[in-house]
Amino acid sequence: MDKLVIEGGRRLTGTVEISGSKNSCLPILAASLLTSERSVIKGVPRLADISTMSKILRNLGVRVDQRDDTLSILPGDYQGRTAPYELVSAMRASVCVLGPLLARFGRARVSFPGGCVIGPRPIDLHLKGLRALGAEIKIEGGYLIAETKGLKGCTVYLGGHFGSSVLATANIMMAATLAKGKTIIENAACEPELVDLAKFLNAMGAAITGYNTHRIEIEGVESLKGAEHNLIPDRIEAGTYIVAAAITRGDILLKNVIPEQITAIIDKLSEVGVSIKQEKDGLRVKVDRKLSSVDVTTLPYPGFPTDMQAQMMALMCTVGGISVITEKVYPERFIHISELNRMGADIILEGATAIIKGSKDLSGAPVMASDLRASAALILAGLVAQGRTEVNRVYHLDRGYERLEDKLAGLGAKVWREKSRRTTIDTTEYREKERVYGSSYQA
Ligand code: EPU
Repeated sequence: MDKLVIEGGRRLTGTVEISGSKNSCLPILAASLLTSERSVIKGVPRLADISTMSKILRNLGVRVDQRDDTLSILPGDYQGRTAPYELVSAMRASVCVLGPLLARFGRARVSFPGGCVIGPRPIDLHLKGLRALGAEIKIEGGYLIAETKGLKGCTVYLGGHFGSSVLATANIMMAATLAKGKTIIENAACEPELVDLAKFLNAMGAAITGYNTHRIEIEGVESLKGAEHNLIPDRIEAGTYIVAAAITRGDILLKNVIPEQITAIIDKLSEVGVSIKQEKDGLRVKVDRKLSSVDVTTLPYPGFPTDMQAQMMALMCTVGGISVITEKVYPERFIHISELNRMGADIILEGATAIIKGSKDLSGAPVMASDLRASAALILAGLVAQGRTEVNRVYHLDRGYERLEDKLAGLGAKVWREKSRRTTIDTTEYREKERVYGSSYQA
C-alpha cells in the first residue's frame, strides 16, 4: 500500500493545471446508460473512482474505452441490470445507475450503498423521487430491486434533514428524462456538477430547464441519443490548490478554473487575507500579507462546500486567532481532527462545530485518514509542517486528485510516493477506526 511522504517548509510557486471534475464525470457516465448510442466525454481525470464507474458500466455489458483524457462509452443493447455489492461498496456514487437503468429498462438491481466515514449517508431522497415517478422499490439481500411499468412525470420535493441532495437530484433528473410527461424537482440541488449533467442530458436530446436553480423541470422524451461533452474543471481540486498556495504563503497560477463556480471559496480565502485575482492566463493566488482566522459554515451550493472543510481547517491551524468551522452538510465529517492534532494542531470538536486555535507550528508525523478530503487536509498540513510527514493509505487521494504529488512537486513541494510498511501505520487506534468505519471511503 502506497503512502505520500512530504518534507515540509517549502513555499509553493508556479503554475498548476486543474483536471476535469470527478463529481461531474461520475453521474455523466451513469447518464450515458440512457441510450444505446455512443457518448464521448472529454477532460476525464485519471482517478480510481472513474475506473470504478467504468467497471460498473462494463459489468452491465457496456463498452468503455479510454484514450488519454477521453472516454468513449458505447452501451449498445447491453443486457445487465445489476450493480453488484463489490463495486457499489467501493464507491457510493454507483447508486447513480439506478435512475438510468430504471428509465431505460423498467428494471434495476443495485446494491444498497452503506454508510461511510463522513457520516451515515442515507438514500431516502433517491428512493422518494424514484417512487414518485412510479417505481416500486424493495430491499432484498442488501440490494435495491426497482421495477416500473413506465415512469410518469410528477412534482417531487427533494429536501432532507440537511437540505438538497446532489446525487438524488441527479438520479431523479436522469430517470425523468424518459418518463411520460413533465417532472418538477422542488428543492433540487444546483451544484455546478448538476448543471454539467443537465447540459450533457440536453445534448443527448433531453428537455431540462431551470437546472441552475432549486426548481428543475424535465419534459420527458421518447428516447435519447449519444452526445459529446467536455467536463467542467474540478472546483474542489481548484480550491485545494488555492489552500496549498495560502498555507505555504506561496504564489501560484491556477489554469482551467471557472471562478464563478468557486465564489464561496474565493470569498472566504479573501477574508483570510489571501490575494486571488483573475489574470489573462488563469487565477493568481498569492499571499503578501499576514493571514487571519475566519469562521466557516459548510452549506449546499452556492455556500462553502463541505468538500473543502478539511482543507480549510488545515489552513486555519496556521493563522493567528480562533476559527470556528461548522459542518451543516455532513455533521460527522471530522475524522481529520485527531490526525491534525497529532501534527501539533489545537482543535476541539463540539457537536458539528470545530474550534481551532491557530498559529500553531505543525510538526511532521506519520498520519492517516479514511477519506479523500481529510487526506488532502493532511497533505496540506504536511506542506508547512516541520520535518517529514507520511500520509498513509494514499488510495483515498487517488480516488479524487489526479497526479497530486506530480502537481505539488511541479510547484516546488518536496513530496514523493513510497511503499508503506504496515508497521509504521498499523496502530491500535487505526485498527479501531477501520473496524468502526470500514476501510473504504465512499464519495
Ligand atoms: N442525504 C439524505 N438523504 C438522501 C441523500 C442525502 O438525507 O437520500 C443527506 C446526506 O446524508 C448529507 C446531505 O443530504 O447530509 C447532502 O448529501 P448529498 O446527497 O448531496 O451528497 P452526495 O450526492 O451523496 C455529493 C458528492 C460528495 C459531496 C456531496 C455534498 C459526488 C460523487 N459526491 O455526494 O463528494 O460531499 O455531494 O456536496 O458527487 C467528495 O468528492 O469528496 C464527496 C464526498
